[in-house]
Parts: sequence; structure tokens; C-alpha cells
Amino acid sequence: MLESHLAVVVLAAGQGTRMRSSKPKVMHELAGIPLLGHALHTANALEAAHVVAVVRHEKDLISDYVNTFFGNVVIAEQDEIPGTGRAVECGLSALPANFEGAVVVTSGDVPLLDVATIEALIETHLAAGLSATLLTTFLEDPTGYGRILRSNDGEFIEIVEQRDATDGQLEIDEVNAGVYVFDASALRQALTQIGTHNSQGEKYLTDAAAQILQAGGKVQAIAIEDAWLVAGINDRVQLSEVAAELNYRICEAWQLAGVTIVDPANTYIDVTVQLAEDVTLLPGTHLKGISSVAAGATVGPEVYLVDSSVGQRASVVKSHVTGSRIGDDASVGPFAYLRPGTELGADGKIGTFVETKNAIIGAGSKVPHLSYVGDAEIGEDSNIGAGTIFANYDGVNKHRSRIGRGVRSGSHNVFVAPVTIGDGAYTAAGTVVRKDVAPGALAMSVSPQRNLPDWVLANRAGTAAAEAATAAQKTSSEPTEQD
Ligand code: UD1
Ligand code: CA
Repeated sequence: MLESHLAVVVLAAGQGTRMRSSKPKVMHELAGIPLLGHALHTANALEAAHVVAVVRHEKDLISDYVNTFFGNVVIAEQDEIPGTGRAVECGLSALPANFEGAVVVTSGDVPLLDVATIEALIETHLAAGLSATLLTTFLEDPTGYGRILRSNDGEFIEIVEQRDATDGQLEIDEVNAGVYVFDASALRQALTQIGTHNSQGEKYLTDAAAQILQAGGKVQAIAIEDAWLVAGINDRVQLSEVAAELNYRICEAWQLAGVTIVDPANTYIDVTVQLAEDVTLLPGTHLKGISSVAAGATVGPEVYLVDSSVGQRASVVKSHVTGSRIGDDASVGPFAYLRPGTELGADGKIGTFVETKNAIIGAGSKVPHLSYVGDAEIGEDSNIGAGTIFANYDGVNKHRSRIGRGVRSGSHNVFVAPVTIGDGAYTAAGTVVRKDVAPGALAMSVSPQRNLPDWVLANRAGTAAAEAATAAQKTSSEPTEQD
């Protein structure tokens, strides 16, 4: 059931100048999704009747993202008047005109904020009949944040921005988290009253809190202990700090859910990843995008896995894997490169220095060493010899090759696509396979080997090779006991 008297406005119209980026700040990624995605997931979890995202800078890019991943979220456009207060005003205009109730305001650049914290804030707001309730925290280094001014008896007075604060006010270590619950009509009223008399000439949302107080409303500022929850990201230093903390929290949650993570500081897991019990992650592992690892599998050390799944009890070592599916009990690496469209069946193996792409490799089949398998299907229980290349590209088009089941291909083969190898066929070492091979046949394209006796002595006289050959010939011509 959606809360009909609850609306959430998420601010995402700012440019994010301090990121020094052509990409808008809220689209920078944290644990695999944009900052804004974190804020909108949290906003949606509140089950409010209305969720509004306010955009302006790079609005098409951001709107596309929002529409694609958060279909329920309404986009509101901020006009040319700058500031968080104006942003909220524009956000409110996207709500039904008769909307009454609580308006939660959060920022697109505060990604770790969790649902429970906002729910508690809403509860206090409603229970105490407040007109505005804001979240604060205490920071060792409050630089950049708005400071909370309180009276001697601890009542909230106002928020002063860093740039507008006196030296004395800068000493205050209680900061505005940028997370608020407002009574809708009190907020609408207050926003009409506040101006842009500050160092940035912006309409500050922070001034709305003091304005509501002046108009006779009740305002409370509530501090939380876990400052990470309200950490704002303004530059790339903060981005990496918050990323490290979020990653630590993600790892901890998976550890508590039964995943062994040997070194969380050196293991990176996106919020979009799913892990099962008794998965083991070794150091240097990056699990990214829509990826999953099934029970009992071991990934790492040093694996980069993107949009891929790993089956039960499988093992992936020192490899780069994108858009691929690795079956149960299969093994990959070390030093394998699995590109999109790779499907390795149960008990299969993609071994050392092997690259695959659009390759379906059947259960129990192995590509153990030094090979490229592109645009191919390999049946079950086949073995591809070391150093085999699937020549899938004729310079103009790509072609697919099919290897049957139970095939044994020799070392250093080239499969010139499109070519089909029947079930149970063999190919000899060094074969360049240009024609289809029938089931059970042996294919060989090698011309008979010729040896030219004494070629080295005649053509490379005086070299180390010639000396070694001469010495060997002498020894072998000396009579032995058997002779
Ligand atoms: C803001 C608060 C500050 C608080 C801090 C917490 C104000 C004036 N200051 O400062 O008290 O300590 O957040 O993180 O509110 N935005 C718009 N339109 C605009 C400007 C900003 O939508 O015209 C959005 C931004 O995209 C961002 C959010 O509002 O998501 C906050 O803006 P930002 O410029 O980062 O504010 P801070 O300086 O961090
Ligand atoms: Ca900010």
C-alpha cells in the first residue's frame, strides 16, 4: 500500500562543479550504480504515493536514467533560479495541487542514507506534530556542510552554510545532513518567503527551516550517530571515501550471510551482485553489474567478473569475465579472458591463456591451454588441443563453427569458420581444418615431414648448432657396447 500522505523529493539538478567532470555528479557511480540510483532506491522503499526527482543540469541524460530504471518517479525540472530551495519548489509543483501531508526531501548526492533512518525521522515528525524535521550529525571535519545553530537550551534556530558562516559558527561540528521531512503546506508557504541573500545568490532550502520557525511552526533537528549514512559527495575524494565505506558494508553483509571474504579491503562487490552461502572470495576479486555466484564456488584471487554468473562449486582464478555463464563444477583460469556470450557447461574447463567469445562449450568439455574460441559451439566431453584458434573472421564477416561431442582436436589446430566437426572425430596436431570432418574421422592437413641430412653443417658452418651437431654425430658413430 502506498502512503497517500507521503511524497519524496530527490534533488538532482545541481551541476556538481566540485567533481570537475563532464558527467553530472549524481550520475557518477558507486558500487555499480549512479549516486542518484542509490537515492532513488531508498526513496522508493518508503512507498510514498509520489516520488519526484528534480533535474536541470544534463537533464536529458538524468531523465533517461530515471525513466529507464525508476518508471514510477516523476521528473520535475528546475528553472533558472538556483539553489536547493528553488529545486524543492520546482519539485513540489510536480505534486498534485491538493497534496497535503509529509514531504521528505533527500539529495541525489547522499547515497548511503537508509530507509530505516528516514522512517524514524518521519515517525518523529508525525508523532510530535512538527512542521519541519531535519537530520543532523556530528563530524570531526565539518568543512563544506551547513552548520546547525541551536539555542542555549538546545532548540534548533537555523542552518548556516559554510560560505556564509562566521569564524565562530565554523567551529560548530553539528552539520545539516540535507535530509528533511516537511509539512507540505508549511514548506510551500516558507519557500515563498525566502530570498537569495547569501554568498551564492541561491535560494537555499536550509533557510526554509528557519522561516517555518519564524512563522510559528515547530522544527526539530535530530542527530544520528552513524555519520556515513548522511555523507554527501561533492568531489572525487569523497566519492572514493564513501565507496570504500559502502564496499566494506556490502562485504560485511555478505559475510554475515555466509560468504567467506578473505580480505574485504581488497574485494569489490557492486550492490547489484547476488552471492550464495559458502561462496569464497579471494583477494583482488571484483564482482560487478548483474552478476551472481552460486553456493560453494570460489572466485579469485584477482578476478574481474562483470554481468556474469558462476555455478555451484565452480572455480574462477585470475581471470577477466564479462557477459558469461560458468556452469556448476566448472573451472576457469588462471589467465582466461571470457568475453560476452561465453557459456561454459557443467564440469567444463577454460584454462590458461584462453580467450572465448560467443562460445557455447558443452558439459565436461575442456579448452585447457593457449586458445581462442570465438563464435563456436562445442558439444559435450570434447577436448580442444593446446594452441587452437577458431578463425572466425574472414576479414569481412564472422562465421560460426560447430564441434561435436566427444571430439579430440590436436594441438595447434586452426578451425577456419564456418566448419563442422562430427561427433567423436579426431584432428591431428597442426591441422588447418577448412573442410567439415565426419563423425569418427581423423582429419590431418599436414604435409609429410622431410628431413634434410647435414643441412646445418652445409649451410650454418661454424655456428654453435653446427658444432653441437658435429659432436652428436661423432658420439653416435662411436661403437657402443650393444654394437
Ligand atoms: C547542502 C546543504 C547543506 C548540507 C549539505 C549536506 C543547502 C543550501 N545546503 O549543501 O546545508 O550540509 O547539502 O550534504 O541546501 N541541487 C539542486 N538544485 C540546485 C542546487 C543543488 O537540485 O540548484 C541538488 C544537487 O544536485 C545535490 C543537492 O541538491 O544533489 C545538494 O546540493 P549541493 O550543491 O551539493 O549542496 P551542498 O553544498 O552539499
Ligand atoms: Ca552536497
